[in-house]
Amino acid sequence: AIDLVGRHFLKELDFTAEEFRGLIDLAAELKAAKKSGTEVQRLRGKNIALIFEKTSTRTRCAFEVAAADQGASTTYLDPSGSQLGHKESVKDTARVLGRMFDGIEYRGDSQAAVEELAAYGGVPVFNGLTDDWHPTQMLADVLTMAEHSEKPLERIAFAYLGDARFNMGNSYLVTGALLGMDVRIVAPKSYWPAEEIVTEARRLAGVSGATVTLTEDIAEGVKGADFVATDVWVSMGEPKEVWGERIETLAPYAVTMDVLRATGNADVKFLHCLPAFHDLGTKVGREIEAAHALTELEVTDEVFESTHSVVFDEAENRMHTIKAVLVATLAAAS
Ligand code: CP
Ligand code: NVA
Repeated sequence: AIDLVGRHFLKELDFTAEEFRGLIDLAAELKAAKKSGTEVQRLRGKNIALIFEKTSTRTRCAFEVAAADQGASTTYLDPSGSQLGHKESVKDTARVLGRMFDGIEYRGDSQAAVEELAAYGGVPVFNGLTDDWHPTQMLADVLTMAEHSEKPLERIAFAYLGDARFNMGNSYLVTGALLGMDVRIVAPKSYWPAEEIVTEARRLAGVSGATVTLTEDIAEGVKGADFVATDVWVSMGEPKEVWGERIETLAPYAVTMDVLRATGNADVKFLHCLPAFHDLGTKVGREIEAAHALTELEVTDEVFESTHSVVFDEAENRMHTIKAVLVATLAAAS
């Protein structure tokens, strides 16, 4: 078993492949224990602060349910309900919360903020998404890939299509490289991860044996893929004015049945961290539809609702994997 007691969970690059795999294995054990009614509570008496400067359904609920299952309690601080960012600095907030809580989750735009919380809180800090990284999502995605493939991780190929300069693209690239996978970033060049992230991924691949591909060519990028993933084209915190340009540039990279067929793999699976614009039936979706005269965005409804789609297993796995992070970093060694 891995020993991560007292560690932060800020970005994938902070972990070895063994540690990352150890968290996946622990999540699988915790998932099995919950399903069979044999879960043992290892976080009784612990208190965890959940700071959300951006909205969330999955991440917040995953932390709350995971903590409750393990006997810990949580305090949710919403974007407007605390002093943070309005009249108190991250550094002071860290030192206050660190006196009361055993761990702190943070979601916001700035990776620097979550790193600062970690530097001054004195307790483990967990990144619940920043503009740069979404590391808890990666644990869920890798667990989901492991569950839906017969192959060992280092033989799995996955392709990410869409905006790859943001949290999801960055995280997929380094996670695949860390774990020795065949990872493909399929996007217009202007949407590839920043050069220093690509350099880090290539360095990791040199150690792990991963294959790292960045390509604009969809057919080449998805060929032989076991999994095809995408994300929303405009992320939280970006102005809605960028939708027009995103749609124009990324529309060819939408995940359609043709894209899945181009893998040549009849059993290919589809991943999406969610929320997804697979139909435009939501309030924001209808606004985009009205402004840009289109009906589907990063993934077609046909793909999303098909048997290829494993997005709800992926969403469920957010909870089991976040539980693994909490147990690994906060539970006293037993
Ligand atoms: N995938 C994900 O992080 O979802 P939420 O934004 O709902 O937390
Ligand atoms: N890239 C998306 C991910 C949402 C889970 C965003 O940052 O909004």
